[in-house]
Amino acid sequence: MLSYKSSSSSQGSEFRLQAAVRSIAEGRVNAELQTKRRRRFALPAHSKLVLLLLLLTAHCSLLTGCRRDMQDQPKAIAYRENSFFKDGTGSRPLVEGTVPRGYLRQEREFYTGKKSAAPTATTQSTSTNATTLYPDDVEAIPMTITKADLDRGQERYNIYCSACHGMTGYGDGIVARRGFNKPSPANYHQDRLRQAPAGHFFDVMTNGWGAMPSYASQIPVEDRWKIIAYLRALQLSQQGQGR
Ligand code: HEC
Repeated sequence: MLSYKSSSSSQGSEFRLQAAVRSIAEGRVNAELQTKRRRRFALPAHSKLVLLLLLLTAHCSLLTGCRRDMQDQPKAIAYRENSFFKDGTGSRPLVEGTVPRGYLRQEREFYTGKKSAAPTATTQSTSTNATTLYPDDVEAIPMTITKADLDRGQERYNIYCSACHGMTGYGDGIVARRGFNKPSPANYHQDRLRQAPAGHFFDVMTNGWGAMPSYASQIPVEDRWKIIAYLRALQLSQQGQGR
């Protein structure tokens, strides 16, 4: 009984041992299989990153699918028709008295060449004196002129005026000689222009005069006065030789 028992028990333990060995072996096989399987489906680290990036870009393009392009944004374009505002235009009227930076131009004489005070009735006489012909224009150049300013005036004169009025101001520039002479560019050495106030020359350059176009867009205010300074020098240089 005992031996049987013992044998049976030894048999049983042997059996258990075998089972355990088998299960361990199987387990190892399973684990191996699993790792093999895992290896078959596993991706290398860098392709994981690629996949992530792909997903991200897909996500982004989905999101951007609903974006509005900048060129289509609802905005008011200056001077364009716009139903948003009652008056139907995209530009808003400026608040009354608005002045752009640097354009206050309170120095009326400097920026317009016109006298600050309105001319009195007595100055508007019927005399032929050139000054009274231009009663609104300032007499003198409203800035101090240095030698450098005079040089600048000469340079600007030669660039912008000499083509018609000539290098010495007799109105015989190359353009006049080639046909722009009905009427011909003024000769600065005539009494009327010798006596004309500085403001008159400023007026001519700013607004044009008869057949002469305006030079306001090409010549800044300060340069116009410098040109006038040079014009005065030209006139002085030809004093007594006027034709
Ligand atoms: C394209 C040719 C041309 C250029 C450049 C030109 N002028 Fe004239 N200018 C004329 C003509 C033409 C007249 C005569 C206009 C008329 O009598 O209808 C004239 C007239 C004048 C007069 C006389 C106005 C008067 O009271 O009779 C002055 C001053 C003058 N120009 C100054 C200038 C100055 C300063 C410049 C340079 C910034 C200049 N001009 C550039 C063609 C020109």
